[in-house]
Amino acid sequence: MSRKEKQNRSIMSTVAAVEDRLFYRLDYVWPVKRLIHKAIMGIAHAVFPRFRDTILAEGPGAIKEVGPFIKEQGFHKALIMTDATLVKIGLAGKLTDSLEAAGIGYAIYDQVVPDPTIQNVEEGYALYKKENCDIIIGLGGGSPMDAAKVVSGRVVRPNRTTDNLGGLFAVTIPNLNWALKKPKHYPKIICIPTTSGTGAETTFSCVITNPDTGRKYTVNDLCVMPDYVILDPELTLGVPPKMTALTGIDALSHLTEAYVGDGHNKESDEISREGIKLVFEWLDKAVAEPDNIEARAAMMKAAHLGGKELIAGVTTYVHPFAHKTGAMTHITHGYCIGTYLPYFLEFYRPQADKRLAELADLIGVGQGRKTKDKAEAYIQAIRDMCAKYGVDGHIPEVADLDTKDFIRSVRTESFVYPVPKQISNRQIRKILKTVAGEK
Ligand SMILES: [Fe+2]
Repeated sequence: MSRKEKQNRSIMSTVAAVEDRLFYRLDYVWPVKRLIHKAIMGIAHAVFPRFRDTILAEGPGAIKEVGPFIKEQGFHKALIMTDATLVKIGLAGKLTDSLEAAGIGYAIYDQVVPDPTIQNVEEGYALYKKENCDIIIGLGGGSPMDAAKVVSGRVVRPNRTTDNLGGLFAVTIPNLNWALKKPKHYPKIICIPTTSGTGAETTFSCVITNPDTGRKYTVNDLCVMPDYVILDPELTLGVPPKMTALTGIDALSHLTEAYVGDGHNKESDEISREGIKLVFEWLDKAVAEPDNIEARAAMMKAAHLGGKELIAGVTTYVHPFAHKTGAMTHITHGYCIGTYLPYFLEFYRPQADKRLAELADLIGVGQGRKTKDKAEAYIQAIRDMCAKYGVDGHIPEVADLDTKDFIRSVRTESFVYPVPKQISNRQIRKILKTVAGEK
């Protein structure tokens, strides 16, 4: 590591530590927190239209469009970030066939692991430089897409290391610069999801793990925002029923949290309503009939809309709780989300009753009843859906977690999320006890 890199790393770790401490302290101060939410959502709503239309091609076989598109844009060589399974089952082959037919060169990095690591990003970045690539493709679930996005971050900011790309303050100044003038060396990113849930193809946030410390951290940077997205439902035909269900529940959470949270506006409401309708209409079919291409296409669209909500409306407490639980227990994201979502929707009442009742009307439950009953009917519909797919509202492993550390972590992360209601430490403990199955 050069002296400059060492200096950079030390400055950025200090900034990250200060940021964590500040967010944690300020999270207790509700008026400040609300003011920050207003500012963040103002920026998010202003930035969102710039990324509104990223779908390059959509529908069965859409992946074939990648090669001709890259050729037309004048790029020569693509770095493909993916995982070994997708190469083995032939999905990566569909992509390389399209590139070869168009005469586009490529290099494949197929070692991305679930919860992508710093090493994945650094190896992908080294391959990008060695092979003189000029465009990056992320093919897979959230992990390969996140790894691909952060490789782009490394290309744009070569003086930073992967572990100091994270943090909110750390990216503010570079992003202002980026907003004024797009760097010439900014490589385009194409994301091709092969599951329907994470919405990673729509955001400028990525989660990277440092295996040495076990710390998961978020990279938020406009330069990791995907430029183009391919939505090809054929790529999800092999996703097992359980994973289809849990990723669908994750998408439903993005859409619902954004709707009941404090960050919504007219545009985000429309996105949520369209996506929630799709989930309630098609998730059961996608699980029961894995080859039903119409159901797969609908769920892929719902997940994409859910991903858009991560900028347009943003999530609430459900996600920080699921992130921390997942990081400590290694239980899948969708399962953790399905566990916490009904508890938090209940917690947001009665403030969120009106919004929840609107969603009840949307999916046709609780008709003819009072607002508060309709709100309850919507939450019950989610509970029923989760229970049907084996998410029973309990994660016994939560009983073994360090509550103090848990509180600190969820407060630090959720500080910037536009939650509709402030939570106290006593209420956090109560939810954790319920999830753990304790009385
Ligand atoms: Fe999620």
